[in-house]
Amino acid sequence: MTIRPATEQDIPAITAIYNEVVATSNAVWTEKPDTEADRLAWMTARRALGYPVLVATEGGIVTGYGTFGDFRAWPGYRYTVEHSVYIHADHRGRGLGRLIVGELISAATDLGKHVLIAGIDGDNQASIRLHAQMGFAEVARMPEVGRKFGRWLDLVFMQRLLDTPGASRP
Ligand SMILES: CC(C)(COP(=O)(O)OP(=O)(O)OC[C@H]1O[C@@H](n2cnc3c(N)ncnc32)[C@H](O)[C@@H]1OP(=O)(O)O)[C@@H](O)C(=O)NCCC(=O)NCCS
Repeated sequence: MTIRPATEQDIPAITAIYNEVVATSNAVWTEKPDTEADRLAWMTARRALGYPVLVATEGGIVTGYGTFGDFRAWPGYRYTVEHSVYIHADHRGRGLGRLIVGELISAATDLGKHVLIAGIDGDNQASIRLHAQMGFAEVARMPEVGRKFGRWLDLVFMQRLLDTPGASRP
Protein backbone atom coordinates (compact mmCIF):
# COMPACT_ATOMS: atom_id res chain seq x y z
CA MET A 1 0.00 0.00 0.00
CA THR A 2 1.38 3.36 -1.05
CA ILE A 3 0.23 6.93 -0.54
CA ARG A 4 1.47 9.32 -3.23
CA PRO A 5 0.46 12.51 -5.02
CA ALA A 6 -2.30 11.88 -7.58
CA THR A 7 -1.58 12.16 -11.29
CA GLU A 8 -3.84 12.70 -14.29
CA GLN A 9 -3.89 8.92 -14.79
CA ASP A 10 -5.67 8.58 -11.42
CA ILE A 11 -8.57 10.82 -12.45
CA PRO A 12 -10.89 8.01 -13.71
CA ALA A 13 -10.49 6.11 -10.42
CA ILE A 14 -10.91 9.26 -8.30
CA THR A 15 -14.04 10.16 -10.28
CA ALA A 16 -15.51 6.66 -9.81
CA ILE A 17 -14.86 6.71 -6.03
CA TYR A 18 -16.39 10.19 -5.72
CA ASN A 19 -19.46 9.33 -7.81
CA GLU A 20 -20.15 6.16 -5.81
CA VAL A 21 -20.14 8.24 -2.61
CA VAL A 22 -22.42 10.88 -4.23
CA ALA A 23 -24.91 8.22 -5.35
CA THR A 24 -25.03 6.11 -2.20
CA SER A 25 -24.51 8.39 0.81
CA ASN A 26 -24.86 11.82 2.36
CA ALA A 27 -21.10 12.19 2.79
CA VAL A 28 -21.08 14.84 0.08
CA TRP A 29 -24.11 17.08 -0.31
CA THR A 30 -24.85 16.87 -4.00
CA GLU A 31 -26.84 14.40 -6.06
CA LYS A 32 -24.96 15.30 -9.26
CA PRO A 33 -22.15 13.02 -10.42
CA ASP A 34 -18.95 14.61 -11.71
CA THR A 35 -17.33 13.99 -15.08
CA GLU A 36 -13.65 13.17 -15.31
CA ALA A 37 -13.14 16.66 -16.75
CA ASP A 38 -14.73 18.16 -13.60
CA ARG A 39 -12.38 16.16 -11.40
CA LEU A 40 -9.34 17.09 -13.47
CA ALA A 41 -10.24 20.79 -13.18
CA TRP A 42 -10.68 20.33 -9.43
CA MET A 43 -7.27 18.66 -9.08
CA THR A 44 -5.59 21.31 -11.21
CA ALA A 45 -7.13 24.08 -9.08
CA ARG A 46 -5.96 22.44 -5.85
CA ARG A 47 -2.45 22.05 -7.24
CA ALA A 48 -2.34 25.67 -8.41
CA LEU A 49 -2.89 26.71 -4.78
CA GLY A 50 -0.03 24.44 -3.67
CA TYR A 51 -2.39 21.98 -1.97
CA PRO A 52 -1.95 18.20 -2.18
CA VAL A 53 -4.23 15.64 -3.79
CA LEU A 54 -3.11 12.25 -2.47
CA VAL A 55 -4.11 8.75 -3.52
CA ALA A 56 -3.73 5.44 -1.73
CA THR A 57 -2.87 2.60 -4.10
CA GLU A 58 -2.56 -1.12 -3.78
CA GLY A 59 -1.20 -3.21 -6.63
CA GLY A 60 -1.65 -0.26 -8.97
CA ILE A 61 -5.34 0.18 -8.00
CA VAL A 62 -6.47 3.48 -6.46
CA THR A 63 -8.21 2.59 -3.19
CA GLY A 64 -8.86 6.09 -1.85
CA TYR A 65 -7.91 9.73 -2.00
CA GLY A 66 -7.72 12.81 0.15
CA THR A 67 -7.07 16.50 -0.24
CA PHE A 68 -7.56 19.87 1.41
CA GLY A 69 -8.41 23.37 0.32
CA ASP A 70 -9.04 26.79 1.78
CA PHE A 71 -11.69 26.85 4.50
CA ARG A 72 -13.04 30.30 3.62
CA ALA A 73 -11.89 32.89 1.09
CA TRP A 74 -11.14 35.82 3.45
CA PRO A 75 -7.40 36.41 4.06
CA GLY A 76 -7.76 35.98 7.81
CA TYR A 77 -8.59 32.29 7.26
CA ARG A 78 -5.33 31.59 5.43
CA TYR A 79 -3.94 29.33 8.16
CA THR A 80 -7.04 27.11 8.14
CA VAL A 81 -7.78 24.39 5.59
CA GLU A 82 -10.68 21.96 5.18
CA HIS A 83 -9.96 18.42 4.03
CA SER A 84 -11.86 15.52 2.54
CA VAL A 85 -11.16 11.79 2.38
CA TYR A 86 -12.87 9.12 0.32
CA ILE A 87 -12.13 5.41 0.42
CA HIS A 88 -13.35 2.99 -2.28
CA ALA A 89 -16.36 1.03 -0.97
CA ASP A 90 -14.48 -2.28 -1.27
CA HIS A 91 -11.55 -1.03 0.82
CA ARG A 92 -13.19 0.66 3.82
CA GLY A 93 -12.50 -0.41 7.39
CA ARG A 94 -8.87 -1.38 6.71
CA GLY A 95 -7.11 1.69 8.09
CA LEU A 96 -6.82 3.61 4.82
CA GLY A 97 -8.89 6.58 6.00
CA ARG A 98 -6.63 6.87 9.04
CA LEU A 99 -3.51 6.74 6.89
CA ILE A 100 -4.71 9.39 4.43
CA VAL A 101 -5.88 11.77 7.17
CA GLY A 102 -2.49 11.29 8.84
CA GLU A 103 -0.74 12.28 5.61
CA LEU A 104 -3.02 15.31 5.22
CA ILE A 105 -2.19 16.41 8.78
CA SER A 106 1.53 16.18 7.94
CA ALA A 107 1.11 18.02 4.64
CA ALA A 108 -0.92 20.84 6.21
CA THR A 109 1.63 21.15 9.03
CA ASP A 110 4.49 21.30 6.50
CA LEU A 111 2.66 24.12 4.69
CA GLY A 112 2.52 26.08 7.95
CA LYS A 113 -1.22 25.71 8.42
CA HIS A 114 -2.62 26.08 11.92
CA VAL A 115 -6.01 24.34 11.79
CA LEU A 116 -7.42 21.42 9.80
CA ILE A 117 -11.21 21.16 9.58
CA ALA A 118 -13.56 18.34 8.62
CA GLY A 119 -17.14 19.16 7.67
CA ILE A 120 -19.09 15.94 8.23
CA ASP A 121 -22.69 14.86 7.79
CA GLY A 122 -24.14 14.45 11.30
CA ASP A 123 -25.10 10.82 10.63
CA ASN A 124 -21.67 9.81 9.27
CA GLN A 125 -20.49 7.89 12.32
CA ALA A 126 -17.56 6.30 10.46
CA SER A 127 -16.09 9.70 9.63
CA ILE A 128 -16.90 11.24 13.03
CA ARG A 129 -15.17 8.33 14.80
CA LEU A 130 -12.22 8.36 12.42
CA HIS A 131 -11.64 12.05 13.06
CA ALA A 132 -12.10 11.76 16.84
CA GLN A 133 -9.46 9.03 16.76
CA MET A 134 -7.13 11.35 14.81
CA GLY A 135 -7.30 14.14 17.41
CA PHE A 136 -10.16 16.18 15.95
CA ALA A 137 -12.71 17.68 18.34
CA GLU A 138 -16.32 18.45 17.49
CA VAL A 139 -16.64 22.23 17.58
CA ALA A 140 -20.03 22.81 15.94
CA ARG A 141 -23.19 20.92 15.05
CA MET A 142 -25.51 22.84 12.76
CA PRO A 143 -29.01 21.35 12.49
CA GLU A 144 -30.71 20.99 9.10
CA VAL A 145 -28.35 23.22 7.08
CA GLY A 146 -28.23 20.71 4.21
CA ARG A 147 -30.67 18.73 2.09
CA LYS A 148 -30.20 15.60 0.03
CA PHE A 149 -32.44 12.70 -1.00
CA GLY A 150 -35.46 14.61 0.39
CA ARG A 151 -34.12 14.93 3.95
CA TRP A 152 -32.64 17.72 6.06
CA LEU A 153 -29.04 17.12 7.07
CA ASP A 154 -27.00 18.28 10.05
CA LEU A 155 -23.43 19.49 9.59
CA VAL A 156 -20.76 18.64 12.14
CA PHE A 157 -17.51 20.58 12.11
CA MET A 158 -14.50 18.88 13.70
CA GLN A 159 -11.14 20.58 13.96
CA ARG A 160 -7.57 19.78 14.91
CA LEU A 161 -4.91 22.30 15.81
CA LEU A 162 -1.67 21.48 14.05
CA ASP A 163 1.78 21.33 15.55
CA THR A 164 2.92 24.57 13.95
CA PRO A 165 4.98 26.96 16.10
CA GLY A 166 2.71 28.64 18.62
CA ALA A 167 -0.13 26.14 18.16
CA SER A 168 -1.64 24.55 21.24
CA ARG A 169 -1.75 20.78 20.98
CA PRO A 170 -5.11 18.95 20.90
C1 LIG B 1 -15.27 7.59 6.48
C2 LIG B 1 -14.14 6.85 5.76
C3 LIG B 1 -13.21 7.88 5.13
C4 LIG B 1 -13.35 6.05 6.80
O1 LIG B 1 -12.25 5.44 6.16
P1 LIG B 1 -11.88 3.91 6.43
O2 LIG B 1 -10.65 3.58 5.70
O3 LIG B 1 -13.08 3.08 6.13
O4 LIG B 1 -11.63 3.95 8.00
P2 LIG B 1 -10.43 3.25 8.81
O5 LIG B 1 -10.40 1.79 8.47
O6 LIG B 1 -9.19 4.04 8.61
O7 LIG B 1 -10.96 3.39 10.30
C5 LIG B 1 -10.43 4.35 11.21
C6 LIG B 1 -11.42 4.53 12.34
O8 LIG B 1 -12.62 5.11 11.83
C7 LIG B 1 -13.75 4.59 12.52
N1 LIG B 1 -14.60 3.84 11.58
C8 LIG B 1 -14.27 3.49 10.31
N2 LIG B 1 -15.32 2.86 9.73
C9 LIG B 1 -16.31 2.84 10.65
C10 LIG B 1 -17.66 2.38 10.64
N3 LIG B 1 -18.19 1.78 9.56
N4 LIG B 1 -18.40 2.56 11.75
C11 LIG B 1 -17.90 3.17 12.83
N5 LIG B 1 -16.63 3.64 12.91
C12 LIG B 1 -15.85 3.48 11.83
C13 LIG B 1 -13.21 3.68 13.59
O9 LIG B 1 -13.01 4.45 14.75
C14 LIG B 1 -11.89 3.24 12.99
O10 LIG B 1 -10.97 2.88 13.96
P3 LIG B 1 -10.82 1.32 14.40
O11 LIG B 1 -10.47 0.58 13.15
O12 LIG B 1 -9.71 1.36 15.40
O13 LIG B 1 -12.16 0.93 14.94
C15 LIG B 1 -14.67 5.84 4.70
O14 LIG B 1 -15.60 5.00 5.30
C16 LIG B 1 -15.31 6.52 3.50
O15 LIG B 1 -14.62 6.87 2.54
N6 LIG B 1 -16.64 6.69 3.52
C17 LIG B 1 -17.37 7.31 2.42
C18 LIG B 1 -16.95 8.75 2.19
C19 LIG B 1 -16.94 9.56 3.47
O16 LIG B 1 -17.80 9.44 4.32
N7 LIG B 1 -15.90 10.41 3.58
C20 LIG B 1 -15.75 11.30 4.70
C21 LIG B 1 -16.49 12.57 4.41
S1 LIG B 1 -16.36 13.69 5.81
